[in-house]
Amino acid sequence: MYKLTINGKSYSVDVPASMPLLWVLRDVVGLTGTKYGCGIEVCGACTVLVNGEPERSCDMEVKEAVGKQITTVEGLSPNRSHALQLAWIAKQVPQCGYCQSGMLMKAAALLRQTPKPTDAQIDAAMSNVCACGTYPRIKAAIKAAAGIAA
Ligand code: FES
Ligand code: FES
Repeated sequence: MYKLTINGKSYSVDVPASMPLLWVLRDVVGLTGTKYGCGIEVCGACTVLVNGEPERSCDMEVKEAVGKQITTVEGLSPNRSHALQLAWIAKQVPQCGYCQSGMLMKAAALLRQTPKPTDAQIDAAMSNVCACGTYPRIKAAIKAAAGIAA
């Protein structure tokens, strides 16, 4: 049994120690906003925050998450009012949407550390893959959320 803190709530999960955090979030806890893309730490669809840092949850064993603050896209804000969520809507970022929760979590970590990122800092931080090619709109939305003119 592992005790996890997800989006500020406590959960006890009875799963094998090596189960990826992604499966625990989606299949055991029922938080399906975090997506499975590649399963090999490449695409970033599974990105969540662990103690405020972006982590690819497909390759993090559940036992490593014990005692840490895990934030999924569902926990970004209580009512979808996070600056990034508002900017994502204003800039109409998603196409199919599959990569977008991972993108939002990566962007949230970026703005937490660098509230006014430069283009180069955004490019360096946003290493997630979007098969639909929404990168220009992601960049515009991050700038809007940061209050920087695009
Ligand atoms: S599913 Fe985790 S990086 Fe692709
Ligand atoms: S919006 Fe479709 S993969 Fe990014």
